[in-house]
Amino acid sequence: MRIKVAPSILSADFSCLDREINKVERAGADLIHVDVMDGHFVPNITIGPAVVKYIRKVTSLPLDVHLMIENADKYADTFVKAGSDMITVHIEALSLFKIKSLSRKLRARGIKFGISLNPATPIAKIKNSLKFADFVLVMSVNPGFGGQAFIPSVVPKIKQLRKIFKKDISVDGGINEDTAKLVIDAGANILAAGSYIFSAKNVKQAIERIRNAAD
Ligand code: DX5
Ligand code: ZN
Repeated sequence: MRIKVAPSILSADFSCLDREINKVERAGADLIHVDVMDGHFVPNITIGPAVVKYIRKVTSLPLDVHLMIENADKYADTFVKAGSDMITVHIEALSLFKIKSLSRKLRARGIKFGISLNPATPIAKIKNSLKFADFVLVMSVNPGFGGQAFIPSVVPKIKQLRKIFKKDISVDGGINEDTAKLVIDAGANILAAGSYIFSAKNVKQAIERIRNAAD
């Protein structure tokens, strides 16, 4: 599977977000990862649909919108209208029934539907929902903030998931060239990375190092 790199703009300089996005786009990013937090599901508040709408204007890359919010089913549509191409919800925040109906709605509109699980959430919790997902996003830090250290116990979880799930597996949190190798070897093929990419002097090289980490 081709490795895709998704810079997380949470670590970008928001005073010039357009330039930051153009910078990673020119440097070879495959997706733009957008972290939406509500101060309820996670202890932080970030951006909402109004900002996604402006991000949509400045890039042609797919927008990978990670909803770390309660009631994601209620807000997903607003994020689709704002220009999201991929929507990820958390298994800890939605019932199977809601996941099923949201998946149906989003897929009918050509949106890729992802389900995420926190580091402490076992694969068993997501098994019944896998058929509704186009991809799974495995969190390798506790969601809420950029710049945290990678939690190594997620590596066996990625391996376990890869055995039963043949579509895209995304990993998010603490990704750098070393942890990228661990998760790619375990079976992941989309890597979201914030601080490692946006703090790099050479962004192109940082993206390539993640992409080629397992070569
Ligand atoms: C964490 C977010 C991540 C985060 C990644 O809650 O979902 O996408 O921005 O940032 P780094 O790569 O710095 O861990
Ligand atoms: Zn994220």
